[in-house]
Amino acid sequence: MNIILLGPPGAGKGTQAAMLVDERNMVQLSTGDMLRAARTSGTEMGKMVAGVMDRGELVTDEIVIGLIREQLETATADGGFIFDGFPRTLAQADALNDLLDSEGQTLDAVIEMRVDDAALVSRITGRYTCANCGAGYHDTAKKPAKEGVCDKCGGTEFNRRADDNEESLKTRLMAYYKDTSPLIGYYYAKGQLQSIDGLAPIDQVKASIAGAMD
Ligand code: AP5
Repeated sequence: MNIILLGPPGAGKGTQAAMLVDERNMVQLSTGDMLRAARTSGTEMGKMVAGVMDRGELVTDEIVIGLIREQLETATADGGFIFDGFPRTLAQADALNDLLDSEGQTLDAVIEMRVDDAALVSRITGRYTCANCGAGYHDTAKKPAKEGVCDKCGGTEFNRRADDNEESLKTRLMAYYKDTSPLIGYYYAKGQLQSIDGLAPIDQVKASIAGAMD
C-alpha cells in the first residue's frame, strides 16, 4: 500500500511513519530527512538548501522530485511507501502521479492529519531526536522511558533541528497554507483523501491511520 501523510509541520507525520515502518514493513520516504542527510554529508545540493530550510521556506520542486524519483527507481518496499512531507505543491503531486505510473505503482490513500496551529508551536519547540539512531521524542508528549537514554538504541546524545523555532515555524506554516493545503482539495476531488484527528494522543492517531488504511 502506498500512502501520503499530509499535514502541517509538527502534525505528527514522522512519528506515525516510523511506527508504520516498524509494524507494516513499509518504507518511509521523507524529503525532509533526505535533505537533512544531504546537508550533513556536505553535498553541493545540501549546501544549497541549508539556508532555505533553516528559514522554513520550500526547496525547489526540481530538487525534491529528483530525490523521490531516485528512491522510487531504486528502493523496494514490500509493505509499500509512505510519502512523508512530499508532495508539498501541486507540481510535486502531479510529478508523483507520473512517477508512480511509470513504476507500475498506485497511490492508495492520502491521509490528512488535521491539527490546530496553536498545538504546533509546543510540538515543534519540544521536539528532539536521538543523535545516534534518529528516534524522535518530545519534552512532554513522548519522553524516553529512562530520562536522557534513547529507548531504541541506548544513545545518550540528542539533537534539536535548526528550523524548530517559532520564527521558522511561522514561515513553514505560511508555506503549508499557501502551497501545500491546495493538495487537500486536489486529493479530495480524486476520491483519495481521508482526514483524521491529528490532535489526539499518539496511539489514537495511530489507530485512526490504521482505520483509514484498512
Ligand atoms: P520536514 O522535515 O518535512 O518538516 P515538516 O513538514 O515541517 O514536518 P516536521 O518534521 O516538522 O513534522 P512532523 O509532522 O513529521 O511531526 P513529528 O512527527 O516530528 O521539512 C523540513 C524542511 O525541508 C521544509 O521546511 C522545507 O524547507 C524542506 N522540504 C522538505 N520536503 C520538501 C518538499 N517536498 N518540498 C519543498 N521543500 C521541502 O512530530 C512533532 C513533535 O510532536 C514530536 O516531538 C512528536 O513526538 C510530537 N507528537 C507527534 N504526534 C503527537 C501527538 N499525537 N500528540 C502529541 N505530540 C505529538
